[in-house]
Amino acid sequence: MSAEICFAHLSDWHATSLKGGGAALLRGKRISGFASWALSRRRYHDPAILDAAIEDVHAIGPDRILVTGDLTHVSLESEFRTAARQLASLGTAEQVFLVPGNHDCYVPARSERSWDHWAEYLRGDSGAEGDGEGERGTLDVTPPLASNPPAGHAPRYADYPMLRMHGGLAMIGLCSAIPTPIFRAGGVLGGKQLERLEDLLGILGERGCFRVVMIHHPVAAKGEPARRALLDGDELRGVLARVGAELVLHGHKHRRRVNYVPGPDADVPIIGVPSSSEVGSKPDKAAQYHVYRVTKSDAGFALNAEVRGYDAVTKRFVRVDESLLG
Ligand SMILES: [Fe+2]
Repeated sequence: MSAEICFAHLSDWHATSLKGGGAALLRGKRISGFASWALSRRRYHDPAILDAAIEDVHAIGPDRILVTGDLTHVSLESEFRTAARQLASLGTAEQVFLVPGNHDCYVPARSERSWDHWAEYLRGDSGAEGDGEGERGTLDVTPPLASNPPAGHAPRYADYPMLRMHGGLAMIGLCSAIPTPIFRAGGVLGGKQLERLEDLLGILGERGCFRVVMIHHPVAAKGEPARRALLDGDELRGVLARVGAELVLHGHKHRRRVNYVPGPDADVPIIGVPSSSEVGSKPDKAAQYHVYRVTKSDAGFALNAEVRGYDAVTKRFVRVDESLLG
């Protein structure tokens, strides 16, 4: 990493409509999701605020844009199509890297009617590609570090983790999204994904990469009821304790959360971002997104973070003068 790398983190924009969903809304768990949308969520998530966020991201001009899921409400195919257009407005598939949230896996759905609409945003680059400077030369001549589905096909749960590289920035996408019973919104990574994650983080750490782990569900041990939590959070925190990461990003809470978990050499920051489309139904839920800038020197990595929040008066995102990292 020879120069500053800038990346943005957005999540949980839920800026789709269920109008016209038809009979599909009356099947299984979608009934409760439709009720939730009709009674509350449709008033809390404003596509115009997402548009303002996207405009602000373009003005900032980050190298990469990381999105931690929940772009839909109940995983209708029409929602995947709408969100695909929103992703295209945000950036190219090379710029934007996405992991799915629990709402994007609300009920079991065929890939071609759901995640395939986002295939190029969800896929990794196997760690053998990339377009940055510095460590890229080394990574270009190494075998792929992670499996990747064919072009046009979204990764499936069993394919994760996904890996993308940009210079010395390693972005590791996890999938905690599984269909869950009604009134439950938890996630799980599973033993195989955790095993591959540990191998990947170990290799990338040895190569001196800045490792950003992306996951929809919160990672810290506290603050999440069991019905909404990551079921194998203890196991993930065990991986981080053994091999570390420089940063973990998540969504799901629709609130900013800053926690640290132990790593082998230093604590690992775990940062949750609010929704990027929330009207501010509660003061701590108003729309925000985060911008990170990382540089590397002989002394190690330096990470700066900026909070960008929606200003309802000007209808624009502005810098929020609050510290994100301690
Ligand atoms: Fe969400």
